[in-house]
Amino acid sequence: MDGSIISRRRILQAGAVATVAGFVPTRFAIGNTAKVKVGLMLPYSGTYAGLGEAITNGIKMALAEQGGKLGGREIQFVALDDESDPAKAPENATKLATGEKVDFLLGTVHSGVAMGMVKVTRETGTITIIPNAGANVATGPMCAPNIFRTSFSNWQTTWPLGKVAYDRGHRNIVTMTWKYAAGEEMIGAFEENFQKQGGKIAKQILVPFPNVEFQANLTEIASLKPDAVMVFFAGAGALKFVKDYAAAGLKSIPLMGPGFLTDGVLAGQGEAAEGVLTTLHYADGLETAENVRFRTAYTSTYNKPADVYAVQGYDAGQVMLKAMAAVKGDTTDRAALIAAIEKAEIKSPRGPFRFSKAHNPIQDIYLRQVKGGKEMVLGVAEKDVTDPAKGCKAV
Ligand code: PHB
Repeated sequence: MDGSIISRRRILQAGAVATVAGFVPTRFAIGNTAKVKVGLMLPYSGTYAGLGEAITNGIKMALAEQGGKLGGREIQFVALDDESDPAKAPENATKLATGEKVDFLLGTVHSGVAMGMVKVTRETGTITIIPNAGANVATGPMCAPNIFRTSFSNWQTTWPLGKVAYDRGHRNIVTMTWKYAAGEEMIGAFEENFQKQGGKIAKQILVPFPNVEFQANLTEIASLKPDAVMVFFAGAGALKFVKDYAAAGLKSIPLMGPGFLTDGVLAGQGEAAEGVLTTLHYADGLETAENVRFRTAYTSTYNKPADVYAVQGYDAGQVMLKAMAAVKGDTTDRAALIAAIEKAEIKSPRGPFRFSKAHNPIQDIYLRQVKGGKEMVLGVAEKDVTDPAKGCKAV
């Protein structure tokens, strides 16, 4: 594997030489000698930089474990920092899909960026694997045969939490998030289920992304005196929110949310995270052979603990490995690549999963709670959660 840019001209020239020498180059013969191009469109700066890094680590670890090749071919990564900026997403996706002609496009973290990205790759047909962004539309109205997701839909992560909160006796809850697709869809799914059970939303607070000045909002929450508070923040924003919440003296009001609130930032949150209750499709403490092996290998490779983002990247790597083995390295056969992914069972550290018809994982959502500085698995909040994929017609 390498990260340098091999010139397309050299690849084409290699084919031409073969012709002169008397070979009849099949499209496969040329493709087979070239490296497989894997585009990484991820945030490597800003609030979500740590998430982009963990995803990249996960992808590279999965590939390295299988000899660092895809379908027998060497791999070339082309990485691009998308800065979690939706305005730049179409241009960035075009750079990789049309400019670099990547064989696989792996991206991204931010839902707004993902929307701009899939708009492009639905047109180019590039095999796209989303290793985080939960934008419901990507496996909903904007679904496409070439678009897959190894993470979650935003709906999936918090729908089960609505019932959990009600069953724990909470009736009056304040929700809070950044004002963009991920946050709105995550708290939206929570609110819908919580209200369906009979609960009431005292107030929904939206702040601009990636703002981390929470003081005024925390003061307002204190004055509202809800039974509990449910929020979505992630990365550096999650780290700060949980600390600020504790520092504002709000620890007596239970804090909950999707597991992004603590994943990857738990150590930095320290005492402040104690008791935080979350739902997610992964938990550090899952005692399956796959998860234990994965976590041990990840720590010894990267010298830090794995988190949900590393898992999603690792599984995107596994998807590419399976697809490329099925076509024996022939990336020109997109239909066969898609068919192989559609029928793959991924042995993920989260537990095994398959893709739904709309290409989103069908997966268990775990209930987790921080106890003694550790993320404990309380159980499964809901089994085999399948995104409703409203509006998906193309697959
Ligand atoms: C998203 O924008 O879809 C997103 C970002 C960070 C997360 C989860 C979802 O941790």
